[in-house]
Amino acid sequence: MKVAISSDHGGNNLRKEIMSLLDELAIDYTDFGPKTDDSVDYPDYAKPVADGVAKGDFDHGILICGTGIGMSIAANKVRGIRCALVHDVFSAEATRQHNDTNILAMGERVVGPGLARMVAKTWLETEFEGGRHERRVNKICSLDLARGE
Ligand code: RB5
Repeated sequence: MKVAISSDHGGNNLRKEIMSLLDELAIDYTDFGPKTDDSVDYPDYAKPVADGVAKGDFDHGILICGTGIGMSIAANKVRGIRCALVHDVFSAEATRQHNDTNILAMGERVVGPGLARMVAKTWLETEFEGGRHERRVNKICSLDLARGE
């Protein structure tokens, strides 16, 4: 499994925490920054992760900002991305099983590091269930095509 990860300045600490989790789980990842604590614009850091996942260079992406909201909105603008903003373990499991989400967003100012690690681990280790959910995910994908860009 290959994972792409980035944050803005509001998510730097939690991004480092999640990268240490990925190290512990021996999951290969690419860190798209930022490299400093300077204030940055979260869409600039959502884009390389979302593009990389959409192109198939990565299996999954993880995006972190202060709330996770800006990152999730930005990522979901990229064709082929299904990004879920998740701060609980039940939703982390359900969104992989039912929505086949390919990016996880979290907010450093919302969730503590311990729970965030559990959310990320659950999300990374849960498989898509397919079946009736595949039909629904295909309908989500058809909304991308309906945009006609
Ligand atoms: C940055 O202050 C903050 O707006 C950002 O991290 C995020 O929460 C946006 O959704």
